[in-house]
Amino acid sequence: MMSKTNYRPALFLLLGLTGAIQSVQADEFSDQDLERWQMEYQTVVDEGSILFHGGLGNSNTVSCDQCHPNAANTHPETYPKFQQQLGRVIALWEMINWCLLNPLETAPLAADDPKMIALQAYIAEERKGVALDPGKH
Ligand code: HEC
Repeated sequence: MMSKTNYRPALFLLLGLTGAIQSVQADEFSDQDLERWQMEYQTVVDEGSILFHGGLGNSNTVSCDQCHPNAANTHPETYPKFQQQLGRVIALWEMINWCLLNPLETAPLAADDPKMIALQAYIAEERKGVALDPGKH
């Protein structure tokens, strides 16, 4: 005997999605919000700059800017891409960890570590306006 198809889960899913879309559309923000978000972003960029210029506290005291002055030649716009050092396609943060482990001889950071976010914010800000070109060498 064929059972009656139960549409209830699908209906709930549809209702849930509709609700989610509506709440996204209803998301309004003021100039004040924009100002605050920009300030928060700039604070993280500034933290990243400090870390990049010797603020990571690694015991060998090697700093990122010794090899990448002003984050020159970090090319965030080329990620994800194949990196020889790791032998696979990687994201920018994984390459940062390679530099933490090797030249800086210190512990890698988790992808969502605030210090890792800050380093990436600083590096990306330095390359602002450069067109995305993932995979490029
Ligand atoms: C002793 C020199 C040295 C130091 C110090 C150093 N790096 Fe690097 N970095 C390298 C080398 C070498 C590469 C590999 C270049 C390549 O193959 O693209 C690299 C690559 C990178 C890349 C990818 C560049 C690209 O074109 O794909 C990023 C991003 C990066 N480093 C960030 C950092 C950060 C952040 C720090 C500090 C935590 C740091 N580096 C410290 C030497 C250094």
